Amino acid sequence: MGNKEQYIPAAKYSILTDLFDPFMKYIMREEKFKNELLDEAKIQKRDTVLDFGCGTGTLSIMVKDKVMDTIVHGVDIDPKVLKIAKNKIDNKGLSIDLKEFDGINLPYENNVFDKVISSLVFHHLVREQKVKMLKELYRVTKQGGEIHIADFGKPQNLTMRAGFFIIQLFDGFNNTKDNLIGTIPSFMEHVGYKNVKEVQRVMTILGTISIYSGTKF
Ligand SMILES: C[S@@+](CC[C@H](N)C(=O)[O-])C[C@H]1O[C@@H](n2cnc3c(N)ncnc32)[C@H](O)[C@@H]1O
Repeated sequence: MGNKEQYIPAAKYSILTDLFDPFMKYIMREEKFKNELLDEAKIQKRDTVLDFGCGTGTLSIMVKDKVMDTIVHGVDIDPKVLKIAKNKIDNKGLSIDLKEFDGINLPYENNVFDKVISSLVFHHLVREQKVKMLKELYRVTKQGGEIHIADFGKPQNLTMRAGFFIIQLFDGFNNTKDNLIGTIPSFMEHVGYKNVKEVQRVMTILGTISIYSGTKF
């Protein structure tokens, strides 16, 4: 791909990408917060779902495991994680459409997704990218469709704050500052989503993961 936006790989350094799945499973309690996210999303049979920043495909696969009769699309900026996702999806014999993204225009028409889901992507984006990506996600969400985001949120105590400091040291301070002060919901509202709420919080060793939901009317 030609003009691609700069991005932070799943495990910050490309060389660590293969360690991302064990890290998510054993350190980040991914099963817990991804299941909470999917419980909030209430994905129905025949829903068309977009997993934004799908990484190695775990969340997309969980959607199919829960409701087989769905049309699931995963999009990510990093071809290396998409390759891992494709292998996992093929090994399970599932059908999930994966696309590489240039970081600017999502490769989908307007108003196509019933549910947009995303896990741990927004803390990789600086404020301007967060808003731009949300605008793009709003564009591709159907009227009446929903967005459900799981990402680091405002820590609810000092232990969570200390955990999140480690993430900031590793992933960067500029791209994580809005997570820390909990402003992602205001960006969701800014691009047009309504009924925006923090619906869940999950404590992890590396900080609070908040689940934010909103609807496009
Ligand atoms: C921490 S990983 C999370 C992956 C996956 N969603 C999960 O929860 O297992 C963050 C992902 O966001 C992707 N990413 C970073 N910037 C992006 C952007 N601008 N557009 C789409 N994906 C992006 C990275 O390539 C990486 O796969």
